[in-house]
Amino acid sequence: MTDPHRPEADARPAAVLRGLGTFLPPRAVTNHELSQRLDTSDEWIRTRTGIRERYWVEPGTATGDLAVEAGGRALKSAGVDTVDAVVLATTTPDHPCPATAPWVAARLGLRGVPAYDVAAVCAGFVYALANAAGLILAGVADRVLVIGAETYSSILDPADRNTAVIFGDGAGAVVLEAGRSDEPGALLGFDLGSDGEQHDLIAIPGGGSRQRSGGLAPDPSQAYFTMQGKRVFTQAVTRMSDSSRTLLERLDWPSESVDRLVGHQANVRILHAVADDLGIARERAVVNLDRVGNTSAASIPLALADAAADGDLNPGERVLLTAFGGGLAWGSAALVWPDVTPN
Ligand code: ACO
Repeated sequence: MTDPHRPEADARPAAVLRGLGTFLPPRAVTNHELSQRLDTSDEWIRTRTGIRERYWVEPGTATGDLAVEAGGRALKSAGVDTVDAVVLATTTPDHPCPATAPWVAARLGLRGVPAYDVAAVCAGFVYALANAAGLILAGVADRVLVIGAETYSSILDPADRNTAVIFGDGAGAVVLEAGRSDEPGALLGFDLGSDGEQHDLIAIPGGGSRQRSGGLAPDPSQAYFTMQGKRVFTQAVTRMSDSSRTLLERLDWPSESVDRLVGHQANVRILHAVADDLGIARERAVVNLDRVGNTSAASIPLALADAAADGDLNPGERVLLTAFGGGLAWGSAALVWPDVTPN
């Protein structure tokens, strides 16, 4: 692998990040608001997770609406108005069928291009990035819009304090384009994995063919998102650390050479544990979950945009992305941050 830190004659074709756009719905939900209707407190939520507030959509707004906003902003950030494909990562599609991406593409004026959803829960954005990079390297597309968008507020059990305080809605998107591995923004490598033996740690039990073909009567409570927090916590730390280590070794990037660790924003304690495990200073771990909560597939692009806006992410810096979620599924990606202006 080559990168701009080591210009070499053997630069290879690569997918290159050219633009970044994000969107949050307008309604901020504070810990205080939640503690008025749940047996919880601002203090518990802040100290156990790091979250202070999150954004939830108003009734009538769906994932596709957020995706259109973020997708349009990413196109603008990249200075383009056409792409050859749209890949949308989400756990909360507008409908079980069809995929959300085709209508998002149509609403962005991208009619006719291949458009499909990727379902890898909180690892969805990294999976979608790898998928889009694959389209580019296979010669299927020269430019791909990759979106992560979620409305977890639509699947949360409002009475479950274990999950209701954690998740937020939002969307983030990037434009990838065919380029070379020695350009800033080139995606230099991926590591992806899954463990289906532990599929029940994070689940929406009902609403799928497993329930319907079992002849079970629809049960509204089965449509809610469930998570075994403690076991997920341990898995999140282990999987993100191991995946990151695998990728860093493959790229020959010593951990101390990583300028920014952009992990899935689930819990600040998880992000610090992963940083410690990898030997990356905690100050280099980007944290914006205090402002947005866990936005699942939208988490990584929202974190990138906030870090860039805060001056914590600058062109030329080595960036390690790592994410983990239901499946279980996890993934990591590496790039050198390009000179893009998030929109
Ligand atoms: N307010 C107050 N008390 C609470 C709350 C709350 N909101 N939620 C749980 N508690 C209580 C529990 O009931 C428990 O009480 P008990 O000891 O009387 O039984 C106590 O707090 C401790 O609960 P734990 O679950 O052990 O708390 P923990 O410190 O593990 O924090 C949390 C819970 C925040 C969910 C944490 O486990 C976590 O972050 N897990 C990982 C989440 C994650 O990484 N998700 C990523 C993937 S998500 C995806 O893919 C969609």
